[in-house]
Amino acid sequence: MATILDGKALAKRVREEVRGRVEELLRRGVTPGLATILVGDDPASKIYVGTKQKACSEVGIRSFGFAPQATSSTEDLVRLIHEVAAKPEIHGILVQLPLPRHIDEERVIEAIPPAKDVDGLTTVNQGKLVTGARGLRPCTPLGIMRLIAEASLPLKGVSAVVVGRSKLVGKPVAFLLLEQHATVTMCHSRTRDLAAEVGRADLLVAAAGQAGLVKGEWVKPGAVVIDVGINRGEDGKLRGDVEFGPASERASAITPVPGGVGPMTVAMLLSNAVEAAAMQAGG
Ligand code: GUN
Repeated sequence: MATILDGKALAKRVREEVRGRVEELLRRGVTPGLATILVGDDPASKIYVGTKQKACSEVGIRSFGFAPQATSSTEDLVRLIHEVAAKPEIHGILVQLPLPRHIDEERVIEAIPPAKDVDGLTTVNQGKLVTGARGLRPCTPLGIMRLIAEASLPLKGVSAVVVGRSKLVGKPVAFLLLEQHATVTMCHSRTRDLAAEVGRADLLVAAAGQAGLVKGEWVKPGAVVIDVGINRGEDGKLRGDVEFGPASERASAITPVPGGVGPMTVAMLLSNAVEAAAMQAGG
């Protein structure tokens, strides 16, 4: 049986660390502030944003919620982001995705100044990630790297397979793994033989957003399995991208859903918000 990588417990420790850094900033007269922008009324997005705001208040980060209507135009959102970005008390800006279909997501994201881009989604921060320059990194990939580091799992020279190529998870986690000297293969919906690719993985990161896509029997015995999927089934239960039961019989370590990567994403958002505040306050 695999070791369970307990993201909930680690996230709690990360949040305690963040609280310590917040207290340090408070002593210097800086209250870190994070703006959340939730466009429209998608129920899942509302829950995610609510969770993030609550997590902020628990560690002493001020959160500023903005909830423009679903009918807002791209120009309305760009204008709002410019207004929010001009406020010195707001150090980080998070635009909850996905945006309504008529919105030009790229223009909205690019309106965020890179120094306040706590999701690491702007072209500048994605470019810094690829080149290895310092910059804000996307939260889920940071959470995954922290889970791996805390469990002292080796990365140097291992075969890492990432399933999914989003700019929020798949692409950035691939570059962070590469930076740690893994040999990285990126798979996606058009990959010809996903089972064979997964079967070669010492470390698997499944971030395709498709419940049970990765079959347990594909997992290489002894592999580490990181499941990023949060898929709500018809029964209302959350399921990952990996068949947890059979995969956990083959893996050496595996993240559960829920309680694995999800809580780490929120914890790393808080960490990025504090990092952004510290940088803007002068280091
Ligand atoms: N939608 C799903 N995950 C995320 C995330 O990490 N950040 C943002 N902004 N939107 C999301």
